[in-house]
Amino acid sequence: MEEQIKNIAENAIKEIGNAQNANALYDIRVKYLGKKGEFTAVLRGMKDLSSEQRPIIGGMVNKYKEELENLITEKEKQFAEKELQRKLKEEKVDVTLPSTKVTRGSKHPLNRVIEEIEDLFVSMGYDVVDGPELETDEYCFERLNLPKGHPARDMQDSFYITTEYLLRTQTSSVQARAMLANTEKTPIRIIVPGKTYRREDDATHSHQFNQVEGLVIDENITLAHLKGTLEVFMRKLLGEKTELRFRPSYFPFTEPSYEVDVSCFKCGGKGCNLCKQTGWIELLGAGMVHPNVLKMNGYDPEKYTGFAFGTGLDRLAMFKYGITDMRYLYRNDVRFLKQFDQMDID
Ligand code: PHE
Repeated sequence: MEEQIKNIAENAIKEIGNAQNANALYDIRVKYLGKKGEFTAVLRGMKDLSSEQRPIIGGMVNKYKEELENLITEKEKQFAEKELQRKLKEEKVDVTLPSTKVTRGSKHPLNRVIEEIEDLFVSMGYDVVDGPELETDEYCFERLNLPKGHPARDMQDSFYITTEYLLRTQTSSVQARAMLANTEKTPIRIIVPGKTYRREDDATHSHQFNQVEGLVIDENITLAHLKGTLEVFMRKLLGEKTELRFRPSYFPFTEPSYEVDVSCFKCGGKGCNLCKQTGWIELLGAGMVHPNVLKMNGYDPEKYTGFAFGTGLDRLAMFKYGITDMRYLYRNDVRFLKQFDQMDID
């Protein structure tokens, strides 16, 4: 038996010596030292030995096992070191090579305008709210004092999905939602930026555009609050010298209603091609919230008054950045979009 053990060990040592790589070593370890390995098989035969011989044979096996284990580990280390050297040589990094350029996108002009408006109104205590673009006839029109068949619906040519659902034509649809959602009927101060849709398409109109709505409801809100708010709004966005002009107009959900013009920021009001020689540019719709709208959406018009306004963000962005065709805003032309990184006008 001692002879047999010695043979196994000698074979193993020879094989370890010949092993060419780590995989071969692994196989050798399994073959000789594993649970089903050759030494284990020998140990199984120990039950037939005398009690004097058993510890001698056992000790011998363990000594060889230990020796083989050491040899294998030693050789594994050599292979690992060799592999490391190979990698270091082959995968050398040339730190002097020029790096690949990191390209950065730029903020879309519309998002710039929206963020500026949000910052301003949040600083005045307003909440920024949104609502669904696929809207019901009820919220887009009926709850804003525009029952079915009302002639003022003609001002907003619409994309109907069914007779009850349409793509919202105005962010005013969120007015009714905000009033109904406020179950305690406490004061409201919100702005609603978002996408709107109408059936139009030319240089100054797109079938999809963006509006921002403002709504304030509280006790003792007057037209003076509306005027002051719009003055701050327009001067912040278009320059401190901007003047406002209120012209009487009609919206079914406000009474009285106004179209609000701003003094032309290109010529300062003298008259130029931008303002068509009038000195004024029409920019907002606004008015005091109609008592019917308050009542329909749960607010007592005897106790509360409010104002609302709405304006087109695309037009604002066009004026602010001197963009001549609204459709540029939607063409995703990187050459166009990149310009605005360099020209943030405050
Ligand atoms: N929603 C109106 C429009 O799109 C604008 C507006 C908003 C007018 C709020 C009055 C009050 O034309």
